[in-house]
Amino acid sequence: MCCRPYRVTIGTSSGFGKRLMLSILARGDRVIASARSLEKLETMISSSSIQDRNRLRTLHLDVSEGEEKIKAQIDLAVTFWGQIDVLVNNAGIGLASLVEEGGSKILRKQFETNVFGVLDVRLQSSLP
Ligand SMILES: NC(=O)c1ccc[n+]([C@@H]2O[C@H](COP(=O)([O-])OP(=O)(O)OC[C@H]3O[C@@H](n4cnc5c(N)ncnc54)[C@H](OP(=O)(O)O)[C@@H]3O)[C@@H](O)[C@H]2O)c1
Repeated sequence: MCCRPYRVTIGTSSGFGKRLMLSILARGDRVIASARSLEKLETMISSSSIQDRNRLRTLHLDVSEGEEKIKAQIDLAVTFWGQIDVLVNNAGIGLASLVEEGGSKILRKQFETNVFGVLDVRLQSSLP
């Protein structure tokens, strides 16, 4: 177990991220699963049939919180098992609205997560 790559997956409370986390664990690898709400994530984990919790750690991370907070959480993740091998930023939102209805406010919200969130995680994760 010590030499297998480990992943950090961001946005794992539902959907693709949840499936990815479960499939990483099923193949015997380690994963740090992150979510905006640790409570929601823990509830999901409790209701999933995870065999070995020793290979799973959880982390609060909101990709829209800005560079400093993201860096602090990535640094915290590194203290769990050392340097991150693979980081999957799955966090994303799709807000269904016509531009005429939502205006720039709704677009800003999407950009905070889907564009600047991706950029901030990339810049703060010290991956090659
Ligand atoms: N499903 C599709 O057809 C489709 C199509 C194109 C692209 N995508 C993209 O694929 C990814 C997964 O989609 P999905 O269908 O599995 O969606 P999903 O079930 O809504 O999952 C998105 C995940 O991102 C998390 N998230 C949202 N905003 C976040 C933030 N600011 N910081 C951290 N985590 C955040 C959500 O966690 P919370 O519990 O905190 O909300 C959730 O765990 C998304 O990036 C989505 O935009 C999906």
